[in-house]
Amino acid sequence: QALDAFIEAMPKVELHLHIEGTLEPESVFRFARRNGLSLDFDSVEALRRAYEFQNLQSFLDLYNATMGVLCTEEDFYDLTWDYLARVARQNVVHTEIFFDPQGHTCRGIPFASVVGGITRALAAGQQRFGISSRLILCFWRHLSEAEALATWEQAQPHLGCFAAVGLDSSEVGNPPEKFRRVYAKARAAGLKAVAHAGEEGGPDYIWGALDALGVERIDHGVRCLEDGQLVERLVREEIPLTVCPLSNVRLRVVKNLGSHSLSRMLALGLRVCVNSDDPAYFGGYITENFLAVRKALELVPAQVLTLGRNAIDASFLDADEKTVLH
Ligand code: ADE
Ligand code: ZN
Repeated sequence: QALDAFIEAMPKVELHLHIEGTLEPESVFRFARRNGLSLDFDSVEALRRAYEFQNLQSFLDLYNATMGVLCTEEDFYDLTWDYLARVARQNVVHTEIFFDPQGHTCRGIPFASVVGGITRALAAGQQRFGISSRLILCFWRHLSEAEALATWEQAQPHLGCFAAVGLDSSEVGNPPEKFRRVYAKARAAGLKAVAHAGEEGGPDYIWGALDALGVERIDHGVRCLEDGQLVERLVREEIPLTVCPLSNVRLRVVKNLGSHSLSRMLALGLRVCVNSDDPAYFGGYITENFLAVRKALELVPAQVLTLGRNAIDASFLDADEKTVLH
């Protein structure tokens, strides 16, 4: 397949990547060992076998537990560096990375260690690999508004490190409206806003993210197709949707890749792009996601190009930086 070689060589932009979701089983053991922590799994293979999920929550239960091996600034540096070194080989040229501060501060890890390790690695990755990046602070939506506001206060000394705030974790039962106030503060401070919406939750969660939170991008958003008026709005306002195909299969948001609505979304004029979400858990980084949808949906070169260009346009790069990538 000539198109597969093109996909591999194409300079790629990733907009939906949880840095804690790049924690490979080998690294879980490496970090646990050096921090003197014991694990519930005997071996790397046993842990990898547990990467089998019924839904979003069954994934989050494991993801929230395994990130407990990340303790020091050096751990966050190494995690981020390993990710950048890997995707440099996939020709990723720009990446916008989520992190979950509450997954670490709740264990007594200083906010500054998390942000310091990640940002130092991002700077080193720019130097070594030429990969540009942005960092997005995510609030855990299963926690309270008060906890999000407290996290926002802890973020104050580091605001220059963040391009945007985001919202992730258990979607259903935790609507965007719960975070209206903390998002208003973040936007008033000059940050951009994104939110996970329409992954397991219905179209209402996407309306809420747009209207209550003022987001510029929707993460996932695949369930928008259930609401014609919403699709019309997303198309009219050119709202990007950061779709994650392998994630959707592994979390059973769709039955299989062949029934994924990505090509239908493209045909409707939605600004979709391809992303990896939590690649260590879902069986593939950005190239594997592209290759898998190319095959399952029989994408043609024009569709692949549109997906790649949509990501450039939807990024938080400056206009002149986007021009260089196009
Ligand atoms: N945290 C990490 N990956 C996530 C996803 N796909 N949805 C919600 N929260 C997440
Ligand atoms: Zn995600």
